[in-house]
Amino acid sequence: MSVEDRRTPKVPFYDHGAEYQRLRPEIDASIHRVLSSGEYEHGIEVESFEREFAAFLGVPVAVSTGSCHDAMYRGMLALGVGPGDEVITTANTDVACPVAIRRTGAEVVFADIDERTHNLDPDDARSRITPRTKAILAIHMYGHPADMAEIGALADAYGLWIIEDAAVAVGATYRGNYVGTMGDIGCFSHAPSKILGNCGDGGSVVMQDEALAERIRHQFIYWQLRSSRASIGGLELHTGFEIIEEGMHGRLVEISAAILRAKLPHLPEWLEARQRIADGYRERLQGVNLILPEEVGDITHAYRNYVVRTPQRERVRERLAERGIATGMHYTPPLHLQPVYRELGYRCGDLPVTERLADELFTLPIYPHLTDDQLDWVGEVLRQAVI
Ligand SMILES: Cc1ncc(COP(=O)(O)O)c(C=O)c1O
Repeated sequence: MSVEDRRTPKVPFYDHGAEYQRLRPEIDASIHRVLSSGEYEHGIEVESFEREFAAFLGVPVAVSTGSCHDAMYRGMLALGVGPGDEVITTANTDVACPVAIRRTGAEVVFADIDERTHNLDPDDARSRITPRTKAILAIHMYGHPADMAEIGALADAYGLWIIEDAAVAVGATYRGNYVGTMGDIGCFSHAPSKILGNCGDGGSVVMQDEALAERIRHQFIYWQLRSSRASIGGLELHTGFEIIEEGMHGRLVEISAAILRAKLPHLPEWLEARQRIADGYRERLQGVNLILPEEVGDITHAYRNYVVRTPQRERVRERLAERGIATGMHYTPPLHLQPVYRELGYRCGDLPVTERLADELFTLPIYPHLTDDQLDWVGEVLRQAVI
C-alpha cells in the first residue's frame, strides 16, 4: 500500500472477498470435501449445519431453507397463517417480509416503528390489532433486537403467533436470549451480505417445537409422499408412492451448508469485531452533527448495519463517495408507500416515524475486517462533510 493509499484508503460497503481470504483454507477444504463426496443435496452437511446452528442458538431444532423469505413463508404456513388472517409488521424492511405474508393468503398490516431502535412500536401495533390478527412479524432491524417483552405481552393478550425475522441480526441478544429464539419461529438469512452468509442464497428457521419442524420439513420436497416399501432378499425396495399434498422446493445445498459450518465457529469473534467497529465510529464521530445508532435496553447489537441519520443525507453521501467511501440507503420509500402496495390504501403520513427515518438515514460500511485506517478515514471525511 502506498503512503497516499494508506492516508485515503478505499472503503467498500461490503468486502466478501476479503472475508473469504481470511478463512480460505477452511472454506476451500469444506468445498473440496463436498465435491469429492459426490453428495450434493440432502446430505450430511445440511444435517450437521442444522444441528450446529440450533446448538449455537440453544434451540432444539433448526431447519435450513432457501432464504429468509422462504423461512418466514414456510414457518407461517406451518403455523396455520392463511387467507382471512392479518399479520402485523413494519414497513422499513425488505419486501421479502410482506411477500412472505401475502403468499400465505394473509393480509399485511404495517405498523410504525420506534425512533431509537428502528423496530416495531408495540403501542402502534396494539392499535392495529383486529379480530383477524393472527401473528406479529417482529423484525430485528439493522441488528438491534425488537422489544420482545412488549411484543410477547401483546401476543399473550391477543393470542397471536410471533414470527421473528432475524435476517440481519444473527447473534444479537435481548435480555440474554439470542434473537430468533423468543418467538414461535425465528427466521434467518444466509445470503452473502449477511453476518453469517454463504456464497449464494440460504436461510434457516428455528423453533422449540419438533412437530412444527417436521411440518416445515415436509414442505421441502415438491410432493409430500407416503411411500410403500417391500423387503426382498434382505433389500428394501421402493414399490411406489402416493402424493398426499403439494409441497415446494428450497433448502440449503451441501456446499452452502459446508461453508456455513466453516463460518459458524467464527460468529462470536465477528460479532465482537462489529461491536468494536461500532464503538470506533462512535468515538470518531463525537461532536459530528449526525444521529448515531443506540443500544436500547438490555441488549447486544449485531451491527449488521451502522445506521446514521441526517437531513443532509444526499449531500453527505456524495462527499463520502467522492472520497472513496461507499454507503448504503435502505427502504426508501418505505414499503407502505411503494407502488406494489398502493392497493393497500396507505398514504403519506400514516407511519410518520418510518417515513421520517426513511428520509434521513443511511448506513456506513461495517464488517469484521474493516481496519482502523479505514475507520479513521470515514471519521475524517464525515467531520468535513457534515455541517
Ligand atoms: C430484514 C430482512 N428480512 C428478510 C430479508 C430477506 O432475506 P432473504 O434474501 O434471505 O430472503 C432481508 C434481506 O436483506 C432483510 O434485510
